[in-house]
Amino acid sequence: MSDQFKRQAAERAADDVQHGMRLGIGTGSTAEFFVHALAQRVRDGLDVIGVPTSERTHQLATGLGIRLTTLDDEPELDLTVDGADELNSELSLIKGGGGALLREKIVASASRQMIVIADGSKMVKTLGRFPLPIEVVSFGLEATRLAIGKVLAELQLPQKLELRGGAGDPFLTDGGHYILDAHLKEITEVQALADRLVAIPGVVDHGLFIQLATKAYVADQDGVKTVLPI
Ligand code: A5P
Repeated sequence: MSDQFKRQAAERAADDVQHGMRLGIGTGSTAEFFVHALAQRVRDGLDVIGVPTSERTHQLATGLGIRLTTLDDEPELDLTVDGADELNSELSLIKGGGGALLREKIVASASRQMIVIADGSKMVKTLGRFPLPIEVVSFGLEATRLAIGKVLAELQLPQKLELRGGAGDPFLTDGGHYILDAHLKEITEVQALADRLVAIPGVVDHGLFIQLATKAYVADQDGVKTVLPI
């Protein structure tokens, strides 16, 4: 069922793509539906160029015949379309469930607009039920983990941090970094947490996307709803 909703949201976003656009192309199962819908429009004659947010998306888009470039050649984009793990009514997001948060944030930040595509289960009142991915460098991992724990304690958040993949075989991001997943339950001070986390030297970035999304298409049994930030 949720696949059907993901597809509906993705197809609605693909309808918004206009001739000549420079696009950021997201990562994850919902974004993959978008890539397929975009590829269909390209086959029908739409001319766009895309910057993928992961190696995975790069492969898929290339295989489907979508013309790709890099942010070095196209540092300013018109629109990014990407999924999310959670979104609230302000269109603050948690992203990074698939591990691509850093490239996703760089690409979204380089775009004039960002459309989030999601099934209705991703819409929440308060962010935090989905574990917040925090991308960290491998050097000094324990010191960074300790520093993150202190920030969480100061903000009265649970300090449960899990190294993605486990110590024996940690997950590596496309940038060669580790991810600590923070089980926070409810993030009430989103901006404060975001600011405090990026101030830690070993933290590369985190999955909180604030004031980046300009619109969301959220699909459920009642159809596709357009959500604008309040
Ligand atoms: C990838 O790193 C993520 O940010 C995805 O955009 C997010 O996890 C949503 O993925 P799904 O569309 O697969 O739920």
